[in-house]
Amino acid sequence: MKEKEIVCGFSKWSKEQKLEYISNLFENPAEFVQELKSFYHENPKKQKIFDEFSENTISNFYFPFGIAPNFLIDEKVYHIPMVIEESSVVAAASKSAKFWSDKGGFHTEIISTTKIGQVHFIWNGNFEKLKTLMPDLRDRMMDRTKGITANMEERGGGITDIELVDMTREIPGYFQIKATFETIDSMGANFINSCLEEFAAELKDFLAESPYFSEDEKHCEVIMSILSNYTPDCLVKSWVECDIDQLEGIDEELTGEQFAWKFEKAVQIATVDVHRATTHNKGIFNGIDAVALATGNDFRAIEACGHTYASRNGRYESLSEVHIKDGKFRYSLTVPLALGTVGGLTNLHPLAKKSLELLGNPGATEMMRIAASVGLANNFGAIKSLVTKGIQKGHMKMHLLNILNQLGATEDEKTKAKAYFEQEKVSYNAVDRFLDKLRSPSQVVKGVYINK
Ligand code: MEV
Repeated sequence: MKEKEIVCGFSKWSKEQKLEYISNLFENPAEFVQELKSFYHENPKKQKIFDEFSENTISNFYFPFGIAPNFLIDEKVYHIPMVIEESSVVAAASKSAKFWSDKGGFHTEIISTTKIGQVHFIWNGNFEKLKTLMPDLRDRMMDRTKGITANMEERGGGITDIELVDMTREIPGYFQIKATFETIDSMGANFINSCLEEFAAELKDFLAESPYFSEDEKHCEVIMSILSNYTPDCLVKSWVECDIDQLEGIDEELTGEQFAWKFEKAVQIATVDVHRATTHNKGIFNGIDAVALATGNDFRAIEACGHTYASRNGRYESLSEVHIKDGKFRYSLTVPLALGTVGGLTNLHPLAKKSLELLGNPGATEMMRIAASVGLANNFGAIKSLVTKGIQKGHMKMHLLNILNQLGATEDEKTKAKAYFEQEKVSYNAVDRFLDKLRSPSQVVKGVYINK
């Protein structure tokens, strides 16, 4: 790799120019170009769609698109699309879905669907006075945004509240206009941000024009107007439940009751220990993110929100809970999920569109129910493995193909390795050793004669 230097005007170059420039940083530019071009879509029209999602694109980055079948959610069956690179996530979701499908499946409840946006401003003025004038300012803000809100209102959404918040105890002169929104089936980021920018402009006009303010109070400095990705009031709960007896047989060495007890302890640990809580919740987002990606949703927003929500009690805790009472095992996940099924990438990405079709073109609340259930399924799968046979057995089994590919195994070698590692512990070194032996003439691996 050659030394890099600051480059001017990169964004203005054509895709070919960018590719050529970057390829020349490699020892073998032709090989780099060939590799990147091998991932171009064969249909130039489709390739253009991908090129235009982002800036400075020189190729596509593939992720697997898989299906976790057999999710019974609120008595409806879903085969759920998941986009994720980590082996065993789709398998874990599918296994959990199957396990719960004959125990009533997943049940869900939409707790709330509100989103928040803020205008942050610095003002050398009297809070009480502005607060008294808020009804007037609110009306003016509503009026000013009519052009933006008309369509959303027709769909049943819009601005639901606008309030003034005094933050001067935190930062001198700091106030907020805090607004809440109902965005129906869209995630609503553009809608909310457009409204907020109009609120900010109206706030400035209002202060300047109102006769109630002193010269000093007629000006405010708007620092920023932006939606909050923390949406604790866009909340969904998903849960599964069964008799403890029905947990019998999950593990050969544990009774149903012992399994439930260990499971409960694992969740309690993720509530009191931040290190465990982070990994526990990561497992939940393995599922939620994969569904978010498959349906063209903003998984960064969803993750950021989930982690903030997990800290709402002053310490970072498990998002899921388990309750064992009167012989019943009840496991639930409550998580804020600001998902959309219209707008953004949901309709632009050809596969996101297909994902939504496969899910039956759900609205945003149905999407919340689905994603939360997949998060719970992945969480259940992870804890189930952790408290029984451990995570590595299944994980490494799924990872075997990655290791084989990394080591350049042929199809024939893969078939032999898969058969061999049915009974053996998978590790990079073990697979490497196996292939070495396989590739040297007439070898015996642990008593298995390998016929080359
Ligand atoms: C791995 O991607 C996720 C897990 O670590 C989650 C967990 O530990 O609960 C298995």
